[in-house]
Amino acid sequence: MTPSRADCLAIDSRDPLAGLRERFTLPADVIYLDGNSLGALPRATAGLIAKAISGDWGEGLIRSWNDAHWVDLPQRVGQKIARLIGARAADVIACDSTSVNLFKVLAAALFIQQDDAPGRKTIVSERGNFPTDLYVAEGVCDMLNATTGGYRLHLVDDKDGLAAALADQPAVLMLTHIDYRSGSMHDMAAITALAHRHGALVIWDLAHSAGAMPLELDRCGADFAVGCGYKYLNGGPGAPAFVFVAGRHQQRARQPLSGWFGHASPFRFESGYRAANGISRFLSGTPQVLGMLALDAGVDTLLGAEPLGGLAALRAKSLALGDLFITLANAGPARDVMKLITPKDPRQRGSQVSFLADSSRIDGYAVMQALIERKVIGDYRDPDLLRFGMAPAYLRYVDVFDAVAILNDTIASRSWEEERFALRAEVT
Ligand SMILES: Cc1ncc(COP(=O)(O)O)c(C=O)c1O
Repeated sequence: MTPSRADCLAIDSRDPLAGLRERFTLPADVIYLDGNSLGALPRATAGLIAKAISGDWGEGLIRSWNDAHWVDLPQRVGQKIARLIGARAADVIACDSTSVNLFKVLAAALFIQQDDAPGRKTIVSERGNFPTDLYVAEGVCDMLNATTGGYRLHLVDDKDGLAAALADQPAVLMLTHIDYRSGSMHDMAAITALAHRHGALVIWDLAHSAGAMPLELDRCGADFAVGCGYKYLNGGPGAPAFVFVAGRHQQRARQPLSGWFGHASPFRFESGYRAANGISRFLSGTPQVLGMLALDAGVDTLLGAEPLGGLAALRAKSLALGDLFITLANAGPARDVMKLITPKDPRQRGSQVSFLADSSRIDGYAVMQALIERKVIGDYRDPDLLRFGMAPAYLRYVDVFDAVAILNDTIASRSWEEERFALRAEVT
């Protein structure tokens, strides 16, 4: 039997995580299903940023680099993120964007292979990987080919393709843990072990996993990882990202964006570059202090759930919310025009549910715009993909019930057919 609205309210009333919603500021009439794109605003953030601006910046001025400890924010925030991704505190640093960090770790991994296995010059990834990952890999290959030659990006389409590509002795395997389109999840431990058996170093993009579920980078033996601050870490639009480098690689790792903040002694202003010890060498320039403070508040909000079971409890709730969405969508008119492409198996899925719109029956983009007008906010990805993120820290079961009711009504009433819903905005 499909759950009723009253059933959902009853589950919410028993939910030990329900109180976390109070730690976020959300418009009362909005059902927010896009935490996989931009996390919600933690209640603490605005006050902390206002204080940092008027007090630390306005009054403290340059003194605040020391007095307000701005200077080591990347390390401090990185240490907190480490707790969320199963890494040692010393192996994570917050900085730059995911794209920029990917450039740094990809080059670092290839430099290591130049020393250890000079014949290995191929980066393996998936054709469906997030475009920025592939563009950055192309850029790194171009950079290295200008001097050395032979670097290339090899894209695979499925597991067989991956196994064959690994058997070909690549330098690096670069994968996104959770697919941004389908929400399907790779087995990080098994794939890392397989790649290592073939001598490849492994880079994980955790954009859709960090803060959404417990991760175990160290246990999986990951070599490098990058991740995003503005999705499940709730760091705000354009928040700094993070880098993980396994301790065993750090002292020899070189990265090409060798700016002064990654120098061993930035304030000695030496003319030559000497990399800092450890993970700090993955910094480049001056930290984005205000963004970093907002990220810190976002990460603290998640760490604040530790007494309630932390990421394991959040993950269980996110899966339950996703199951509820799938069950309800399958019980109404949405079933006939939208096909679930997210795996149902919890071992294979992330924190979003994605549906492919049947383009012969509905315009997926227009349906999403009609939903957004009715205050149900998900997002749309070309072609024909409707994504609904289940951010468990602030989503209630009744929200999912109401969202699917509005989705079913939008489809049954064909209200999405109104012309204005077809007009494309720049960000979808
Ligand atoms: C898997 C993945 N990698 C990287 C990015 C984006 O990185 P950046 O923050 O550099 O724009 C995204 C953005 O959605 C993503 O989904």
